[in-house]
Amino acid sequence: MSRGFFLTFEGLDGSGKTTQLRRLATALEVQGNSIVTLRQPGGTPLGDRIRSILLDSKSEATLGPIAPAAELALMFADRAQAIAQIIQPALTAGKIVLCDRYTDSSEAYQGGGRQLGSSRILAMHAAACDNLQPDLTLLLLPSLEASLRRARHRNHRHTNAHGTDENRFERESDEFYRRIYTAYEAIAAREPHRVVVLRDDASIEHIHQQILHIVATRLPQAIATP
Ligand code: TMP
Repeated sequence: MSRGFFLTFEGLDGSGKTTQLRRLATALEVQGNSIVTLRQPGGTPLGDRIRSILLDSKSEATLGPIAPAAELALMFADRAQAIAQIIQPALTAGKIVLCDRYTDSSEAYQGGGRQLGSSRILAMHAAACDNLQPDLTLLLLPSLEASLRRARHRNHRHTNAHGTDENRFERESDEFYRRIYTAYEAIAAREPHRVVVLRDDASIEHIHQQILHIVATRLPQAIATP
């Protein structure tokens, strides 16, 4: 079975990963590659519904407090749907899939931030995602101080057309984000081949160039390189 290339972007809120993903997608497309991009949570119609429940800061006013394990299960419901509907078909067709967040986010945010622990997340990954792993993960992780500053003082997101504001995670404490940072570092130390950490707090262009270089060395020969 032919298989494309599965690349994920990870980092704290405000790390710039979405900007970098878009720039990489454009560069790869210009080279004639077939690219599929998506974000988690979201990306499918079901995922978009789950996203608005999980990210809207007003959700808990109507639904009551969302239990950490329920939050985790919803993240994986979203992910399982995205794998079935988008990721696996694209990989089977030999495409490059660029995904803005994946299971590492659950391990960092729910495992670390919400203190559910890594083993529970890895068990859910096996159960819900059949252990589908990215070929490469780019983790944007500048210093803890810079990360905290960006995550905590990120401009609040605008209310979108559906009336959701996506600020639920932005309201968390510094301590929450510190635990996420530590969890990301632990993932990178555990899987150094898959996870490449970009620690520079450099310009968007500089980081983009670094990413182009890393991706060029990692894409299989069968897929054109940037
Ligand atoms: P983003 O689309 O700007 O990256 O925001 C998604 C938010 O959802 C972000 O605060 C991280 C959070 N999140 C989790 O807590 N667990 C997950 O598994 C994923 C995919 C996202």
